[in-house]
Amino acid sequence: MRKKILVGNWKLQGSLAINQLILNRFKAELAHLFDVDVVVCVPYIYLFQVQELLKDSNIAWGAQNISQYQEGPHTSCISANMVAESGASYTIIGHSERRALKLENSRVALKRVLNALNAGLTPIFCVGETLDDRENGLAELVVKNQLLNLIQGLDDANFNLAKKLNIVIAYEPVWAIGAKQSASANIVQAMHQLIRFILAERDQQFAEQTRIIYGGSVSLSNSNKLLNLADVDGGLLGRSSFVADDLISICSDMQKYIDKGNLQSYLCAS
Ligand code: PGA
Repeated sequence: MRKKILVGNWKLQGSLAINQLILNRFKAELAHLFDVDVVVCVPYIYLFQVQELLKDSNIAWGAQNISQYQEGPHTSCISANMVAESGASYTIIGHSERRALKLENSRVALKRVLNALNAGLTPIFCVGETLDDRENGLAELVVKNQLLNLIQGLDDANFNLAKKLNIVIAYEPVWAIGAKQSASANIVQAMHQLIRFILAERDQQFAEQTRIIYGGSVSLSNSNKLLNLADVDGGLLGRSSFVADDLISICSDMQKYIDKGNLQSYLCAS
C-alpha cells in the first residue's frame, strides 16, 4: 500500500513574514494527517527558516532543484549536501520550468538525481510532454524516454538507493502547468499506468512501491477527481500550495477519502 504524498512547489514566492504565517498554519492544521505525507519545496534561501518552523512537525521540506556539481568553482550553485544540511528530505529535479531554460537536459537531470540520492535526499523526478508532443501523438514516447533516461542511468547501487529513499515520479504535462485547466482524469490515469508499467520492466517491487504523483493546475475544485485515481499517489502543486486554505483543504479531503475507504474495507471484512 503506497502512502499518499502531496508536494507543494512554492516556486519564486515567499517572504520571511508570509512563510511564517503559512507554515504555522500547516503545522497546526495538518497535525492530524496520518495517511498523507506533506512536503513543501521552498526557495533555497528559506530552507533554514522552514527547518526552524517545521522541525517538530509531521511536514517535510525540500528544495526545488539542486546542482549537478558537488563543490567547486560554480557560482550560485547549491549542492545536494547543502540542501540536506537544512534537514530537507526531498528535492524536485527536472521540472519543466527548469528544462525549458535549456540548463537541465536529461544528462544534467540524471546527475542531479545521483547527487540527491548520495546526499540522502529523495528526488521528485518530473516528466511530461509539451502540447506540441501531445498534438503530434508523441506524449507517451516523450515521457517514456525521459523515464528510461533515469532508470537506465542508475547502476545497481544507485538503483537500490533510489528504492531505499523511495524516489517519487511526478507526471507533469507541460501544457497543464500554470494553466487554467488540468489534464483530464483519463489522460492522467493512462499516463500513470504507463509510467508504472515502465518502472516494472526494471523491477516489479520498485513499480509497486514508487509513488507517481500528478502536477499541473491541481486545485481545490479538481483534486478529489484527480488525486484518487488508481495509479495516482498524490500531487505536485504549484499555485494551490501557496494558499494555506487551499493546501489544507486538499490534504484534508485526501485524508477523508482514505478514511472512507478504510471504513468500507473494515465493514466488508467484518
Ligand atoms: P501549478 O504548478 O499547480 O501552478 O499548475 C504545478 C507545477 O509546476 O508543479
